[in-house]
Amino acid sequence: MTDWKNPPTLFIPGPVKVLPEVLAQLAIPTLGHRGKEYSQLHGETVTMLKKILHTDQNVFLSTSSASGVWEGSIRNCVQMDEKILCTMCGAFSDKYATVARANGREVDELKVDWGQAITAEMIDEKLATGDYAAVTMVYNETSTGLTNPVYEISKMLREKYPDVLVFVDAVSAMVGLPLHFDELGWDIVFASVQKAFAIPPGLAVFAVSDRAMEKAKTVPNRGYYFDFMEFAKSGAKDQTPTTPAIPQTMALHYQCTRLLEEGMENVWARHKTMAEFVRTWAKSKFGLFAPEEYASNTLTAVKNTRGINVAETIKAIQEKHNTIFGNGYGKLKEETFRIAHMGDITIDDLKKLLSWIDEEIE
Ligand SMILES: Cc1ncc(COP(=O)(O)O)c(C=O)c1O
Repeated sequence: MTDWKNPPTLFIPGPVKVLPEVLAQLAIPTLGHRGKEYSQLHGETVTMLKKILHTDQNVFLSTSSASGVWEGSIRNCVQMDEKILCTMCGAFSDKYATVARANGREVDELKVDWGQAITAEMIDEKLATGDYAAVTMVYNETSTGLTNPVYEISKMLREKYPDVLVFVDAVSAMVGLPLHFDELGWDIVFASVQKAFAIPPGLAVFAVSDRAMEKAKTVPNRGYYFDFMEFAKSGAKDQTPTTPAIPQTMALHYQCTRLLEEGMENVWARHKTMAEFVRTWAKSKFGLFAPEEYASNTLTAVKNTRGINVAETIKAIQEKHNTIFGNGYGKLKEETFRIAHMGDITIDDLKKLLSWIDEEIE
């Protein structure tokens, strides 16, 4: 019998395992969100996030999951008569296009099969028409375990299309994969905290370039909850426009402190080591869904080459070890399964999980 008060250890690609000391931050008595104490918490957290994201520009905290910033990016930075190029390679990058359309913007799709990457050449070909005000990308496609070559893409964009705004969904990439916001020339990047920050859900982190903030000033009907101008006004006082998720912010402050102590290069290297460990196992027992050169360092989508019953395997491991991993996403259910290796998951945790999967399949 499942029991939410005795939750399984999570290897699904978010929410992920949260350390007891991180959970303890959520139990700190709450603060008044217009008081000096909250401003201190907020200001220090944003200062650390700027270091983590390698930016001197604007960093905001949104009391929402990252999906809210999908909407915010479109509503703030694209005029109603401008066109967006949405690059699509899986469930989440597909959804970004849906959100853009739901906000009344005209979208052109650059779509590849799930499991394939978006390349600089593909985007170049589309943008050469000169039709687009913005391009959307997902850094790490959580549904397929694939990392797009965003550094190469961004270099091409900076050189050939400096006027096109670049919106990047880094929901399952931020912290786990290299991210140099200013150097990349991105205009918006965002993530939820329940992925590689390894915090319970309820908060999103996002960065916005100065030029995107300038653009937002000219866009009417930005809405209220995700209005970047409201975030800037409150951010100047180290506050948020509406009542923030203070417990999550306390946990975020704690995690940012730990990340900077470890050093981001080391954090990224640690994720790579975990990913290589899981990939080696996956290749020996199954296969990889994404081409290895694009395989993600925050989660692995394993190709179910043995035709195991994934749902039954997950159920068996949950019953025996109170631990779960992810089935394939959407149409990839049973054809793939997904193992997260991000945040505070360790190699030792992974060894245990993989040995349990081995026991089930052998
Ligand atoms: C790449 C990506 N984008 C967006 C989302 C949506 O994030 P949220 O559910 O936190 O709004 C997810 C969720 O898993 C994701 O993996």
